[in-house]
Amino acid sequence: MRTNVIAGNWKMNKTNAEAVEMLTELKGLVKDIKDVKIIIGAPFTALSDAVKAVEGSQIGIAAENVYPKASGAYTGEVSPVMLKSIGVKYVIIGHSERRDYFKETNEFINEKVKAVLENGMTPILCIGEHLEDREAGKTAEVTEKQIREGLAGITPEQAENIIVAYEPVWAIGTGKTATPEVAQETHKQIREVLRDMFGKVADKMIIQYGGSMKPANAPELLAQPDIDGGLIGGASLEATSFAEIVSAARK
Ligand code: 13P
Repeated sequence: MRTNVIAGNWKMNKTNAEAVEMLTELKGLVKDIKDVKIIIGAPFTALSDAVKAVEGSQIGIAAENVYPKASGAYTGEVSPVMLKSIGVKYVIIGHSERRDYFKETNEFINEKVKAVLENGMTPILCIGEHLEDREAGKTAEVTEKQIREGLAGITPEQAENIIVAYEPVWAIGTGKTATPEVAQETHKQIREVLRDMFGKVADKMIIQYGGSMKPANAPELLAQPDIDGGLIGGASLEATSFAEIVSAARK
């Protein structure tokens, strides 16, 4: 019923030349795959060249952040209007690295989600608990708050065009993946919260898993009923490993 969505998040990696090289290789590797949505999140400097590099393919380009105003005196920031104007289709919002290192709040993240939607792009809203939350049995509570506050004021029609990425912080870049069962349990809870907020639309919404997803563990994770794809960090930097995960997402 839902098409799997595999997205890469390059984080602060790749020069323009490296970005174009990887995307050119990836384009070739996935050219016959039509039943998985493919997204690559690139740093701001590489976005324009990345969009050109994937032209004529089914790969969509994502920004990794945005400022929720159209223009103005916000030195160093990039607006959704600017992103849209160069052909960016998705924006990763509220990644745990932004929440932790740059102190982004759910309220600020909510402004970004709305600004991205207003500009006709798709937000990829990242949520996830820290290890101490999980050990204290607070995973459901923490993720529910992130969803309710991050998606406050969003209509069911808008929600249909939002991707949620569940990334347990303890699994990011650590090599410690959530087991398929643990991930599925949380994904199910997340969908229940979305159902409470948006009704039936929740069944159409994509909930990606992120956190040390690799070619070796992707098939089992993606086989879970409420896991609709992945947000991939480390394994998205190389075309071959990313393409293997894309292949694993075929139904
Ligand atoms: P890793 O795949 O490197 O654990 O990163 C996951 C992530 O943070 C994607 O946004």
